Amino acid sequence: MSTPSNSSASSSQSDTTAARSCKISASPHDALPSAAGKKPAPPCTLVIFGAGGDLTRRLLMPALYNLAVDGLLDDGMKIIGVNHGERATSEWVEDLHTSLQQFAADKASTFHAGKLDDNAWNWVAQRLEYMAGEFESDDTFAQLKQKLAQQHSGNVIFYLAVGARFFKPIVERLGKTGLLKEGDEANGGFRHLVIEKPFGTDVTSARDLNAHILTYASEAQVYRIDHFLGKDTVQSILAVRFANALFEPIWRREYIDCVQITAAETIGVEGRGSFYEQTGAFRDMVPNHLFQLLGMVAMEPPNSFDAEAVRDKKAELSDAIQPLTRHDVVFGQYEKGPAGPGYREEPDVAPDSTTETYAAARVFVENWRWAGVPFYLRTGKRLAARRTEISVQLKPVPFRLFRDTPVDALTPNVLTLRIDPAHGTSFDFNVKMPGPVMQVGAVQSSFDYNDFFAEQANVGYETLLYDCMLGDETLFQRADSIETSWCSVDEVLHPKTGGPIEVHGYAAGSEGPTQADALLARDGHAWRPLQRDAVGKK
Ligand code: BG6
Repeated sequence: MSTPSNSSASSSQSDTTAARSCKISASPHDALPSAAGKKPAPPCTLVIFGAGGDLTRRLLMPALYNLAVDGLLDDGMKIIGVNHGERATSEWVEDLHTSLQQFAADKASTFHAGKLDDNAWNWVAQRLEYMAGEFESDDTFAQLKQKLAQQHSGNVIFYLAVGARFFKPIVERLGKTGLLKEGDEANGGFRHLVIEKPFGTDVTSARDLNAHILTYASEAQVYRIDHFLGKDTVQSILAVRFANALFEPIWRREYIDCVQITAAETIGVEGRGSFYEQTGAFRDMVPNHLFQLLGMVAMEPPNSFDAEAVRDKKAELSDAIQPLTRHDVVFGQYEKGPAGPGYREEPDVAPDSTTETYAAARVFVENWRWAGVPFYLRTGKRLAARRTEISVQLKPVPFRLFRDTPVDALTPNVLTLRIDPAHGTSFDFNVKMPGPVMQVGAVQSSFDYNDFFAEQANVGYETLLYDCMLGDETLFQRADSIETSWCSVDEVLHPKTGGPIEVHGYAAGSEGPTQADALLARDGHAWRPLQRDAVGKK
């Protein structure tokens, strides 16, 4: 297994500058352990468009650092950051280093690594190079072509960490410059293209974007990211379902009453007012992140973990989602409340904005396994608690054995897959309470990742980047699935009758609009409270 070392032959002039300003030590990095059972990625050059952006600073760099710590990057790795504005590589590197140190020290950050490992950081820093360039200028791509021709390996990943308006111009120029050509023209190497969310804003724009990209690259070269799939707790859904004999037999309409998928946030729009005004909670979260969670929980078992086997099952599932209508959704917008001012008071938000900051939906999956089982999805900003989870609620027991006892109602069994910020699972079930009388009490059994596994400062992009280097597309979205997902929500985004969906107010810091309760109440169900302790605890 190759481990990162300082002996890279690809060190450039600008690396030397970086080394000076970041006090790069000369000690070899070979001693860093590599992650058990994992092979290092092949050598490649990662070109990040949007080197100066938040995504690069907050997620890509911490993820690359974590991969370096685990010894999963090849010595021949090179990272070229492209952004508009002249800047010395040393300045960019110093900036990234400062940010990384801040995140590492911040307990609230997903990258709470404590003190940075100097060896690992130095290894990454030596491979960074900044390149000034406009995303819509042909010169940028000509210059990039020259730089890439000097790289030893022909393997290149183009990561579009830029605003969606730049996706098409960048892909077009990459294509026209010949930079997406694989095989001989790329020294026999691969050329992968990573596209971030938002992938379109509806089915028409998503189809148009897919068609544009596929003019210049083949589907096998395109890695469409949904960062929820990078979370270990999300990948673990397949392990919980398919590595245990306990769950799969009951994972069907005969036993499951409903499934609730929640992505509740306490934060507001965090300075992204102008983006959010055009996007809203529904577009931002439902047809992408929440549908991905739905896919993981509801897809049929694949025959293998081969990327196409998994993605075929996901595509089948997307196909089975019944198109949503306005009667299946509830929209809300936070108003002044215990958690602070209302959405309309946020910077870059119109004082009479009707953008939703909360969306709930009732979704049906029309197939043999799930017919008739409602999947309730909800997401929102400035809610009472941060909670991303999936709760699978089982049907009541078939026979009221306790009818002649003081027990008049039983609490339903619920398996909760906790994704963020708690990582683990919990199961609510009933037991006899201590004492001479037959009384049944609800209890909870739970598993927390930290109790069993060493805590990792994983930001969620590690596996995605590593898989992209290995050419494993399992966790990336295929064109057809993206389009089908947008298709299922088209009537909500562009209602043909009845005008735009009404947006109801909710207090900042609350459980969301009361109208969302009615969405479930009509089926005899209720949302699991966002603020709750373990069931039945003293
Ligand atoms: C992003 C959305 O895709 O996901 C944000 O644009 C949202 O609005 C974020 O806050 C949630 O991701 P996570 O991983 O923090 O739950």
